[in-house]
Amino acid sequence: MPYVPTITTMIRLDHSHAVSAFHRYGSETAWWRKRAIVTSVCRALEIHAQLEEEFFYPALARIAPTDEILKKSQSEHDQLREIIAKLRGMGPENAAYDSLFMELMRDTLHHVADEETKLLPLAERALGPELRTLGAQMMRRRMQLLGEHPVEMAVNTAGTFPVATAVVATVLACGVARLVRGNRHARAA
Ligand SMILES: [Fe+2]
Ligand SMILES: [Fe+2]
Repeated sequence: MPYVPTITTMIRLDHSHAVSAFHRYGSETAWWRKRAIVTSVCRALEIHAQLEEEFFYPALARIAPTDEILKKSQSEHDQLREIIAKLRGMGPENAAYDSLFMELMRDTLHHVADEETKLLPLAERALGPELRTLGAQMMRRRMQLLGEHPVEMAVNTAGTFPVATAVVATVLACGVARLVRGNRHARAA
């Protein structure tokens, strides 16, 4: 079977890209760069949250419907969305811009820590081969969601995680396509 990353690998990759994107932002950063980082991080977090809600959380709900961390995860995503909406409504010249972005960072890191220490290990213990099936579904859906915002993604040069993960996903998908072609040729020979 061609290599497909598991859903938990993809989620961890998104998290580490988010952390490094946050660290590129400082109060002394140029305003245009602040805006580029914030635009990119916000879009990336929205895509990441949507993917988790469509694939990861429903799979966890089947195996651990009463898990306390899982139960609060959706509302934490909604809180992140509220901060994102506020950030989009102001510019870097606003005195509250830095502190709001720091709030987004704190809340995201707290949420990510819960996922990495509780939810991802839980999924890895219980879901077995389904982790790869879910990974493939999530990869396809990510490409679809990124395709809905090609201009925003192309203009944004902050190099944050939806783009980086999309590149990884594309490389993997190309690798998969080559493997499939190779198998076909091998069978035809
Ligand atoms: Fe999440
Ligand atoms: Fe996450």
